[in-house]
Amino acid sequence: MLDTVIRNAEIVTAADRIRADIGIRDGRIVVIAEDAGPAQNEIDAEGLLALPGGIDAHVHLEQPQGGGVVMADGFESGTRSAAAGGNTTVMPFALQQRGQSLREAVEAYHAAAEGKCHIDTSFHLIITDPTPQVLGQELPALVKAGYTSFKVFMTYDDMVLNDAQLLDVFDLARRERAMVMVHAEGYDAIKYMAKRLEEAGKTAPYYHAESRPQSVEREATHRAISHAELTDVPITIVHVSGRDPMEQIQWAKKRGMNVFAETCPQYIALTAEDLKGLNMDFEGAKYVCSPPPRDADSQKAIWEGLRDGTFDIFSSDHCPFRFEDSKGKDVEGARTSFRWVPNGIPGVEARLPILFSEGVSKGRISLERFVALTATNPAKLFGLYPRKGTIAVGADADITLWDPEREVTMSQSLMHHDCDYTPYEGLEIKGWPVRTILRGSTVFEDGEVTGKPGEGVYLERGTSRAFQN
Ligand code: URP
Ligand code: ZN
Ligand code: ZN
Repeated sequence: MLDTVIRNAEIVTAADRIRADIGIRDGRIVVIAEDAGPAQNEIDAEGLLALPGGIDAHVHLEQPQGGGVVMADGFESGTRSAAAGGNTTVMPFALQQRGQSLREAVEAYHAAAEGKCHIDTSFHLIITDPTPQVLGQELPALVKAGYTSFKVFMTYDDMVLNDAQLLDVFDLARRERAMVMVHAEGYDAIKYMAKRLEEAGKTAPYYHAESRPQSVEREATHRAISHAELTDVPITIVHVSGRDPMEQIQWAKKRGMNVFAETCPQYIALTAEDLKGLNMDFEGAKYVCSPPPRDADSQKAIWEGLRDGTFDIFSSDHCPFRFEDSKGKDVEGARTSFRWVPNGIPGVEARLPILFSEGVSKGRISLERFVALTATNPAKLFGLYPRKGTIAVGADADITLWDPEREVTMSQSLMHHDCDYTPYEGLEIKGWPVRTILRGSTVFEDGEVTGKPGEGVYLERGTSRAFQN
């Protein structure tokens, strides 16, 4: 006897759409058939799509910040919000602070997450201090233990790596078969621009966007690609914001390089104009993130890239700071210069509805492509496939039931995060998650998070598919 059967749904994977029952036992899918037979629990999904649970491969939760800033979401609220947005796995970052052992950083992050997660998690690492000890011992051991991806930064005072350090990390990644995620914005160019703007009295949040134009992102993207070519390693360029950096990725892909790319909701649903706020006021701080949202031409380019395979994954880059909070966007100094406004915006709950509504409902991408970008490809890129990221016999029963016709106005009042705003307020959405099923258990239904903190498990990961070509 099955534990649960989902009947009457249209099942969508990255490859196909079929009408069949999904039979679940012990948290896994054990049968997909015209009639899966009896079960203790029946779910009638007439009129709904059954999608693989969303995998958000880029979220920041409870990440230590400098300067008295505190992130709005920890593991409990962040994974609660993710579940309500139709996700069953999120991948936050265990950050190594300079001078800190990476192993210690990972242990502290696990302690912070323990017993709190509503859905499954798996950690990337952030390398800020690639010492001989880190490169020679800690990282190889951590990769073997299932931490098979790490992020490096080409900007930010407390995280930037120089070219020699980037090359060292890339080289290690090739040897250990780990995926490197690159934040590609040029540090010195941003510093130069910020100084110039401040000297001209241009300090409002909007000038954050002017301080990091596309050329800054384009140059760093090309530099990262060149380093990857030299070291012969696959890389993923994260949060690609516009046409210029995208063209660099297309150039690399055309040359047959293993360069993967991620984009995010802010680059299709926001523009730099949003940073102007009401009248160049502090409201604009609600949209400060890096790279910044661009313009209509870049949104158009991003859609082309989402359609044609330039982009492999679509993540939220959820990085929430409360707006009315001296530990958030309104930290000391933020009103005197954009340089002090914490970078990042919330989006883990809005990611799937925005891509579905703007992409599938508006006819820009297919349902299959939606599934590939939001679940299947992240699972493949980060070593979770085929346990996660698809609806198939043997996979975890991570399933989102989706109403493609439901119309909703995006609003802070609907959100389950601990942030005090959504940058997508007022956006008209068509298509909404109505039930999130994690390994066979319903954790979210009809607007209510029904699961308990601690139901999510930690996932050790295998090697990225990028190494298996
Ligand atoms: O502004 C952003 N995206 N902050 C989050 C950190 C990062 O670079 O992903
Ligand atoms: Zn980044
Ligand atoms: Zn990020």
